[in-house]
Amino acid sequence: MAKERLKSPRARLFVALDLPDDVRAGIVDWQRTALSDPALRVVRPEALHMTLVFLGYQAEKDAKAIARRAFDLDAEAPAVELQAEPVGVPRGKRPRLIALAANSDQVVSLQSLVEERLVEEGFHEPEKRPFWPHITLARVKRGERRAPPLVGDPPPAAPFMGAELTLYRSTLRPQGALYEPLARAPAASVQRQ
Ligand code: 2AM
Repeated sequence: MAKERLKSPRARLFVALDLPDDVRAGIVDWQRTALSDPALRVVRPEALHMTLVFLGYQAEKDAKAIARRAFDLDAEAPAVELQAEPVGVPRGKRPRLIALAANSDQVVSLQSLVEERLVEEGFHEPEKRPFWPHITLARVKRGERRAPPLVGDPPPAAPFMGAELTLYRSTLRPQGALYEPLARAPAASVQRQ
């Protein structure tokens, strides 16, 4: 039997902060008007999220333990309040993403707490590059030479509270990755009372 088959199945995993429904709806409305250029592949409503820790391929059987550890945040966990900033296209000759920066001290603290737990448990190596809190709204399609200019109103940029933490499985597909929630923890359990 091929050696590959003896390995336990792997899944591409990441921990993300989900958006409250009204924030998601506001972004979806804005996407419809501002991101309609055919050069873009818009991120579907159910796939909008803010990644805290990208774990890459992990043994599927470890997903439960990963969720348990990632969500095991005690009462000292920071409240999460996000400040959505205007659209930023990552700099470079050929920007690939259109994203909303979503920075706040609270979200940076939450991210480092979740990351620490997963590093302690050996599921993750700390990223060398700094955490960039953002919500990806669209990707520039493969083969396109440019990101189209953004037109119309700026995106909704009100501060909000993070709704839920989710461990997602990402399956890469030509039409865009499929993100399936494997485990969720309500944000209330990670907010300081
Ligand atoms: P992105 O939207 O900026 O591409 C699933 O791929 C999620 O994990 C996306 O939100 C993606 O961010 C994020 N992510 C972070 N690091 C990644 C990496 N090295 N490879 C793929 N996705 C990554």
